Amino acid sequence: MPTNSKRKSAEQLSGEAGTRRHVYGRTKGKTLKPRQANLMETLFPRVSISLDDAVIDPSTLFPVETGETWLEIGFGGGEHLAWQAEQNPGTGFLGCEPFINGVAKLVSEIDERGLPNVRIHADDARFLLERLKPGSLSRVFILYPDPWPKSRHHKRRFVNEETLALISAALRPGGELRFASDIPHYVAWTLAHIRRHNMKGGSRFDWLAERPDDWRIRPSDWPRTRYEEKAIREGRTPAYLRFRHEKTA
Ligand SMILES: C[S@@+](CC[C@H](N)C(=O)[O-])C[C@H]1O[C@@H](n2cnc3c(N)ncnc32)[C@H](O)[C@@H]1O
Repeated sequence: MPTNSKRKSAEQLSGEAGTRRHVYGRTKGKTLKPRQANLMETLFPRVSISLDDAVIDPSTLFPVETGETWLEIGFGGGEHLAWQAEQNPGTGFLGCEPFINGVAKLVSEIDERGLPNVRIHADDARFLLERLKPGSLSRVFILYPDPWPKSRHHKRRFVNEETLALISAALRPGGELRFASDIPHYVAWTLAHIRRHNMKGGSRFDWLAERPDDWRIRPSDWPRTRYEEKAIREGRTPAYLRFRHEKTA
């Protein structure tokens, strides 16, 4: 596990010293509804995660006592995250999403459902991941990441060598990575990148599937996301992958 002083900055990792990483895809959509715009002015600053500290200990971010911390990367409209946060009030939730209309939806859910255990990073998940205290997460969700189907765009996919290393540093041994996609090529891509990560040593992600139904059938504690509903309406079949994270020699 890298010590904090050895952890690379976002700029170093992007290979473009002094510049900001680029989030592919849109970050703004339709004008926010008045209530959402108001909550973005009033509530969002209180639930937004500041990246001012070099190391962020997630357990200090919540006004209530939390045991584990779970992170969702690219939460879209926040349906899955809000559901999990309501079902697991003793767990702290971090959500990353650069699309501001999605952030506004989750902020509305936090307000309506009264969720003290959710904090938001409204930007590239990599900026947060590289500042999280090592081993501070128990679960990470990447649900329906942007598929980037053209081969010349595959390098934009969120799952890659760099992000698996960042997730591994932030996830405790015994923690879980959950990934879903309706794009067979992205599922195979993720399994191949996981295999490569495991071969390098230091840590591994063990795929928990023993039989096809383990990845074909959605577990009951895994609610549908908006993107998944659309995929199913359009005739695509999701895969649900769960990996247990372990340190290795
Ligand atoms: C296809 S959508 C899926 C949204 C949601 N997970 C769902 O299943 O409905 C992918 C999401 O990932 C977000 N995203 C893309 N790059 C990201 C990054 N570097 N960090 C965090 N989120 C990102 C996008 O803004 C988008 O909302």
